[in-house]
Amino acid sequence: MKERIQRLLEGLPEGIDGVLITSEVGRAYFTGMRSSAGTALLLKGAESYFIIDFRYIEKARRVVQDCQVILQGKLFEQLRELCVQHHVKKLAIESDYLTVSDYMRCKKSLPEVALVMETRVNQLMREMRAVKSPLELESIQAAQKITDDAFTHICGYIKAGMTDRQVAGELLDFTYRHGSEGPSFDYIVVSGKNSSMPHGVPTDKIIQPGDFITMDFGCKINGYCSDMTRTVAVGQVSEEQKRVYDIVLRANEAAIRAVREGVPCKAVDAAARELIAKEGYGDCFGHSTGHSVGLEIHESPAFSGLDETLCQPGMVITVEPGIYLDGRFGVRIEDMVCVTKEGCLDLTASTKELLVL
Ligand code: GLY
Ligand code: MN
Ligand code: MN
Repeated sequence: MKERIQRLLEGLPEGIDGVLITSEVGRAYFTGMRSSAGTALLLKGAESYFIIDFRYIEKARRVVQDCQVILQGKLFEQLRELCVQHHVKKLAIESDYLTVSDYMRCKKSLPEVALVMETRVNQLMREMRAVKSPLELESIQAAQKITDDAFTHICGYIKAGMTDRQVAGELLDFTYRHGSEGPSFDYIVVSGKNSSMPHGVPTDKIIQPGDFITMDFGCKINGYCSDMTRTVAVGQVSEEQKRVYDIVLRANEAAIRAVREGVPCKAVDAAARELIAKEGYGDCFGHSTGHSVGLEIHESPAFSGLDETLCQPGMVITVEPGIYLDGRFGVRIEDMVCVTKEGCLDLTASTKELLVL
């Protein structure tokens, strides 16, 4: 945490004395403390502080190593005092996270300090979080291991006659029972016609023979997320379903092959998109090929046609092309990969062969 704080402070533009950390993800990343409340004041050339209320104080004193932990009383008076003590005139805020109303409240309550929204500071925080440390990667891999095991389990569980909601509940239950801290997002389990909605929600729809079921799920370990999608068939598959599945699988593999240090993210997106377009399904793939994953399920950079960021070793990004045929069926296959010098490490172990359950 010390190095992270130092790197952020060294990257501050001239005239900015520190950063006010108010978000859950900012607290986790810069202090190691996972809590729904708390404020960190990171100051150039001075000690850093973490102010936290009674509910979390015991944990904070144990967990937070590189900031002085202070029990929260009147938060803004405490912040004002620290700013006066350290001659702080200008603080950057986390403008990616601070709501407008909280910003207005901070501004009113700290009249002597200019709170500034610095694009460069927020960009630096995103860049720092994009490249995972070995410990962060370990947590993501541990979360993915549970997710892969959940997929194996669910393949033996799904039967025609069950509902999408039942399958989603079983996945969630399995991940909890096997060590997950919680889901990394609301699970998507959609069968038959509902599978054409990329972000559909599980319903009481009954799974029928001949349905595709798309399951998009993940869990958290040490605050870090996993994310995977598999599409499986129940009972039987048509030739068209097989063909669409094969195209999505080839797009997924083409994109994974394109990942390497120095490759622009948009080139990875293009590898999947061009293959799908060449097969005549270009209009049926309307989302980006992938996104980074970490403390949050959607982080930067993304495998998107608009993202020119160059892949760097340690980035963990999903590869999740799909084809969605309106009102009929859809297929998505999603792996998480970690960029390396020569290519990438696929963190998802589950088979991508078309399974007919
Ligand atoms: N479940 C959200 C995603 O895969 O991006
Ligand atoms: Mn997903
Ligand atoms: Mn994803």
